[in-house]
Amino acid sequence: MGKIDIIGLGEVVVDWVAEIPHFPEPDEKIDAIAENYFSGGVTANFLVAVARLGISCGFIGAVGDDSYGDFLIKEFKRERVDTKLTVIKKGKQTPVNFIFVVKGEKTIIQSPHMLTTKLELKDLEEYYLSEAKVLHTTLIHPEISEKVINLAKKFDVKISIDLESQIAQRGWKKLKKLLLMADILIPNKEGAKMITKCNTPEDAAKTLIEKGIPLVIITLGNRGALVLTKEFQNEIPTYNIKNIVDTTGAGDAFNGAFSVAYWIKGWSLEKSIKYANAAASLKIQKLGARTGMPYDLELRKFLKENERDLFT
Ligand SMILES: Nc1ncnc2c1ncn2[C@@H]1O[C@H](COP(=O)(O)OP(=O)(O)OP(=O)(O)O)[C@@H](O)[C@H]1O
Ligand SMILES: [Mg+2]
Repeated sequence: MGKIDIIGLGEVVVDWVAEIPHFPEPDEKIDAIAENYFSGGVTANFLVAVARLGISCGFIGAVGDDSYGDFLIKEFKRERVDTKLTVIKKGKQTPVNFIFVVKGEKTIIQSPHMLTTKLELKDLEEYYLSEAKVLHTTLIHPEISEKVINLAKKFDVKISIDLESQIAQRGWKKLKKLLLMADILIPNKEGAKMITKCNTPEDAAKTLIEKGIPLVIITLGNRGALVLTKEFQNEIPTYNIKNIVDTTGAGDAFNGAFSVAYWIKGWSLEKSIKYANAAASLKIQKLGARTGMPYDLELRKFLKENERDLFT
């Protein structure tokens, strides 16, 4: 693979997904409607979203030395995500997340191996970042995140950070140094509220801008997304999707498509967010984080039908 435009630094996991009619009570046993396992992980899903839109990308991170790890690497290769810096860690277990989907809404139990199966500084290679345009990360592993973000700055690579609420729980003080190096912070509303201790996404976005992050986009589930800079604020609604099967990975589809549109194609914020909402809209109509992530052609077809003025 030649030059890599977008690099993801973070997690790749196996998702075991059970679609269930309702959440079982303690001691209750229920039958699932459907059950399957998929490759997942916020950063890895993000990269698949990017790759399907035709942009070169690669994963910096690790899997365990087990059959799940082999499966995840095979999936990356199948999706054309570069794995030169995807390391198989001896003696570590590949993380497995358990996901329960009730009427399209997901509940996730994260693996403890997410934190232990990680890249070490010695596994990193500087050249990998030097020609990239964007580094996207969840900051899950603090030491390697700091190192890679500093390298990205050195090479003038744009820094995009998605903040999950479990990571935001570490608190502003611990994360501040890295968050303030971001060119964009692009979390969901739970992550944004957690890191700012604000009650609404609007207040959270304002707080983050005041602290010095230049661009903040907060995804709002079925409400679309909120975008804020020093100069303006706008909420961009998403499409009315009736057949919602699984929202797992909706944010990752959104972030991947946004990065392609804004940082690589150089589109306006509004056009890029519409492209991202559309990608997420297609994603949520299939079970599994990646299954419904659109290829470029499908996405353009959806946008032609729904956004005739902007996309022809
Ligand atoms: N119910 C829904 N109806 C329509 N669009 C949705 C819905 N849920 C999510 N989306 C789309 O997906 C985007 C991201 O959703 P959300 O804010 O829930 O992200 P998230 O919580 O990070 O998701 P995940 O963690 O599964 O990736 C939204 O901005 C929107 O475009
Ligand atoms: Mg998310």
